[in-house]
Amino acid sequence: MDVIHSVAALRERLERVPNNVFVPTMGNLHQGHIQLIDIAKPRAACTVVSVFVNRLQFGPREDFERYPRTLQGDFDQCRAAGVDVVFVPDEREIYPEPQTFVVEPSDLEHILEGAARPKHFRGVATVVLKLFNMVRPHSAIFGKKDYQQYIVLRDMVRQFALPIEIIPAETVRASDGLALSSRNQYLSVEQRKEAPRLYAILCKMRDELQAGNREIQRIELEGMAELARHGWRPDYIAVRRQADLQEGTPDDTHLVIVAAARLGSTRLIDNLEVELC
Ligand code: PAJ
Repeated sequence: MDVIHSVAALRERLERVPNNVFVPTMGNLHQGHIQLIDIAKPRAACTVVSVFVNRLQFGPREDFERYPRTLQGDFDQCRAAGVDVVFVPDEREIYPEPQTFVVEPSDLEHILEGAARPKHFRGVATVVLKLFNMVRPHSAIFGKKDYQQYIVLRDMVRQFALPIEIIPAETVRASDGLALSSRNQYLSVEQRKEAPRLYAILCKMRDELQAGNREIQRIELEGMAELARHGWRPDYIAVRRQADLQEGTPDDTHLVIVAAARLGSTRLIDNLEVELC
């Protein structure tokens, strides 16, 4: 496995690789990331993982400084998973000058996660476009754990006609249902016990929808009220269309429930796809 720090060395290493598959990450790897690598491996002549904590996608009051950085462990996990190239640029490599050109995801920038985290998706889309230009992958794998991020990047690739296939991967969860996330380690022992409630509520909402209940607003409000009763501060729980995360019509059958809520100072997100017949 090659660990590469500069764009120049990366280009040289990948120059003659016909088919590389890319897994962008911010490091602190867990089983959710490893699943993406496992999906990449059989499709790739060369599997490339990037580890870069991207300042541009963090708000001024967010956790950029304290985001867990565990490079040695990340390398060990990548090696064990059969990764060929780990790209670990420092900030000057990605942003050698102020980034005055940005990718603006417009509509999706202002709803749900975008509304709660102004400029977040602009930061994500901008760094991912740059990483795509550096790695020049044939395909890239993204987790549905970050559902809106997946939609933003899928649409970016389509609208800019980038020759890259975006492959979504299912959310990996702990045995109690909590979606794996680097931010879970901020939780206290008590909060960790409470945390699976978020997914449990999404499942309950899915069951109600599948049982024929179409009072979407009431279902959303009840979900948020239940979280609040257990000490959470919900940002949103919303039943949306899978295709574009807009509010559906009664005819829509491919839905997703997206949610974000704070437990203490830790903000968790999750989602669940719902198929109605
Ligand atoms: P990061 O949070 O490190 O996630 C990297 C990739 O792993 C993303 O595609 C994310 O959706 C996926 N992932 C995280 N937890 C997962 C889980 N429990 N199950 C399945 N997939 C999971 O997302 C980012 O980094 C950044 O925004 C990035 C795209 C790298 C741009 O900076």
